[in-house]
Amino acid sequence: MSSTLEKSTQNGASCSADAELVRQSVLKLRPYVPGKPIEEVKRELGLPDDFSIIKLASNENVLGPSPRAVEAMRAATENVWLYPDDTCFELKNALAAHWKLTPQHFIIGNGSDEIIHFLALAFLDKERGDEVIFGAPSFVQYKAAAMIADCAFHAVPLDPNMVHDLAAMKSQISDKTRLIFIANPNNPTGTTVTRAAFETFLEDLPPHVIVVLDEAYDEYVAAEDNPRALDYIQNHNVVSLHTFSKAYGLAGTRVGYGIARPELMQFLQQVRGPFNVNTLAQVAAIAALGDQNHLQNSVKVNAQGRAQLQQAFGEMGLEFIPSQANFVLVNIGRDAAASFNELLRRGVIVRTGTPFGLDSWLRVTVGTREMNQRFISALREVLDS
Ligand SMILES: Cc1ncc(COP(=O)(O)O)c(C=O)c1O
Repeated sequence: MSSTLEKSTQNGASCSADAELVRQSVLKLRPYVPGKPIEEVKRELGLPDDFSIIKLASNENVLGPSPRAVEAMRAATENVWLYPDDTCFELKNALAAHWKLTPQHFIIGNGSDEIIHFLALAFLDKERGDEVIFGAPSFVQYKAAAMIADCAFHAVPLDPNMVHDLAAMKSQISDKTRLIFIANPNNPTGTTVTRAAFETFLEDLPPHVIVVLDEAYDEYVAAEDNPRALDYIQNHNVVSLHTFSKAYGLAGTRVGYGIARPELMQFLQQVRGPFNVNTLAQVAAIAALGDQNHLQNSVKVNAQGRAQLQQAFGEMGLEFIPSQANFVLVNIGRDAAASFNELLRRGVIVRTGTPFGLDSWLRVTVGTREMNQRFISALREVLDS
C-alpha cells in the first residue's frame, strides 16, 4: 500500500501535498461515470449469475454488431501480436468511399471521445485565453475537454423545448472562442436543431471559431430538416464526429472518427498518439460499415422501440422529450436516484438525469420490444409503489 493511501485512510482526508503535485485544473475534474455494467449490479445486489438483467443505460445497440464484424474480429485475432495499422489505411479508405470524400478528411479515434480530446489538445490554448462553448445539458466530455485544457467555457442552457439554443450560443462568441460543441442529436435530450437554425448560426462566424457537430446518433435521426455536418465541412470550420459505438453496435471495440477538411484535420493527426485504434476495432468497423442491412435493421428496430416507449410514457402521463436518437429522456416527477435503485432490483439498468442536473428524469436507451416492455412494467411498479 502506498504511503499516500495509508495517510488518507488514517486521516480520512486526502493528502494536500499530493494535490500540489497535480495540475490545478485537474483537481476540479471528476472521473466519467459510465452506465452501470450488468456484472457490477449482480455483485452489488448479490444477485445470482442467472438473474436476467437488461442494460438500457449507455445508448448501445441492443441488437449487437453485424455478424460480419464479429467474424472479421475472430479472423483477425491471430494478428494481435502485431501492432495495428497506425494510419488506419483500410478503414479510412472504406469511410472515404462511404462518404464520398478522401481519406485525408478523416481521423480515427479510440471512440469519438478520443477525438474530442484531440480537438482540445490541438486547438485549445490556455495562454491565448481560448474559450469553449457548449449546451447545457449536453454530453459531459465537452466540459471535461475544456477543463483538462484549463480553458474557460460557457455552458449555454438549452431552450424550453430542450433543443440547443443556437442564438444564445452565438451570443457568447467572443474573440477568445475557439471550439463550439453541438451534439446533434443531443445527449441526454435526443433533440436536434433544424437546418435553418444551424445555417443561421454558421453565418458570419469569425474564422477563429471551430464548430464541432457531434453526430454520434446521426443514423437514428428521422427529422427531415436535420442538418448534416458534411454539407458544411468544405466551406466552414466545421468538424463532424461519428462513432461505431451506437448504431453500428461496436461500443466495446472503441472506434469513432472525425471528418473535416484536410487542412484542419492535419492538426488532429499531429496530436494523435501512435497505434490509437486497435486491430480488432479496425477490422470490425470496416465490416460493420459494409453491412448496411444490419444498420438499417437496427435503425428500424430503434424507431419502433422509441415509439413504443414514448407512447407508454404518454399513457402513463409522464412528460418526455420526443427523441431523434436511441434513448428517451422522461420526467418521472420524483427522485430519479431512488427510482433508479428500485429499477435495478427489478433487473433494469437505466441512467438518472442527475449528472445533467435533471434530478427527476431518467434517460432510457431504446431496447428490443421485449426489453422496452420489461422496463415499462418495472417503471409502472416503481411509480405505483
Ligand atoms: C453525444 C456523444 N458523443 C460522443 C460519445 C462518445 O462515443 P464513443 O467514444 O463511444 O465513440 C457519446 C457517448 O455516449 C455521446 O453521447
